[in-house]
Amino acid sequence: MKVTVYNYRSFDEKELFERYGEELGIELVLCPDAPNTENAALAKGSECIDILTSKMPEELLKVFADYGVKYVTTRTIGYDHIDVKAAQKFGMTVANAPYGPCGVADYAVMLILMTIRKMKRIMERTNIQDYTLMGIQGRELKDLTVGVIGTGRIGKTVLKNLSGFGCGLLAYDLYESDEVKESGVPYVSLEEMWKKADVITLHAPLTDENYHMINGDTIARMKDGVMIVNTARGGLIDSEALIRGIETGKIGGAGLDVVENEFGLYYYDHKSDILNNRELAILRGFPNVTVSHHMAFYTDDCVKTVVRDSLMGCKCFVEGRENPWEVK
Ligand code: NAI
Repeated sequence: MKVTVYNYRSFDEKELFERYGEELGIELVLCPDAPNTENAALAKGSECIDILTSKMPEELLKVFADYGVKYVTTRTIGYDHIDVKAAQKFGMTVANAPYGPCGVADYAVMLILMTIRKMKRIMERTNIQDYTLMGIQGRELKDLTVGVIGTGRIGKTVLKNLSGFGCGLLAYDLYESDEVKESGVPYVSLEEMWKKADVITLHAPLTDENYHMINGDTIARMKDGVMIVNTARGGLIDSEALIRGIETGKIGGAGLDVVENEFGLYYYDHKSDILNNRELAILRGFPNVTVSHHMAFYTDDCVKTVVRDSLMGCKCFVEGRENPWEVK
């Protein structure tokens, strides 16, 4: 069997594709670019294609369907970049490759610690041999209350990770988890969370209902000096309101692995480009805001899992076996 792999990265995926391709008896066609109408012909003779987060709209899926592709798997958890309904209309099966929650959960805790300890300022100083102390005094987690919004796979792991630090913990989710309650972490209303949390960390998906859940109004109801960490989706926070909160000192710091309108920026080298995301430029410039480029997931375990499981899903599909990675 043959699988055409798009968005192939030789620097970290090569060895894994070689290993799992051989183990599973899959011949691979490797293409470093995102799938498009020009390179779709590479999939001729492959029943399956394996992609990343590039857009797969109806027109493009039709091109692949015409080449005989019947299965589209993405090496990501999210599959909102694929028009699943259109794929189904063309008789194609869509699949994803979920990886474990620990990578993002570790990263969220790291951003929390970096934010409360003013790590961005500290690193900037040591880089220029400025070894002074003024302005870099941190706070201790044991004295703080952390509010976790979204207690699914990642949020729960963050709660578990934080339980060793002796901080107060609060949770909020539309659906409360017994496991969280049994661990002694109370669910509270958002109102109560704004009032009581010193640090707020976001782990909910972005939906129409929670778009800009952190906005001027909600920030005004938060504690003075509140710190906000976002490893979920940029659209959960109104960037303008966040900037105003930082400028006025209402917000004491932020750790942002995701920002609004990051699509098309992240994962490309833009160092010589003038970018059109002003909010990102402003946020990056603050000494108390740590920004990273949507990479909380990016660990050795995650890359191994998505390469292996996306290929295993292809194999299940071609052999007509039960496929746990299929998107229903
Ligand atoms: P999950 O589906 O296991 O958990 C999400 C939780 O959020 C669920 O408990 C759900 O009930 C809750 N939720 C949904 N709408 C809500 C709302 N309006 N308010 C509060 N809670 C709400 O998802 P998982 O795996 O824990 O991932 C969480 C989010 O993390 C993803 O949706 C994604 O946006 C983000 N993510 C970020 C990555 C990164 O590299 N920065 C990588 C992977 C995921």
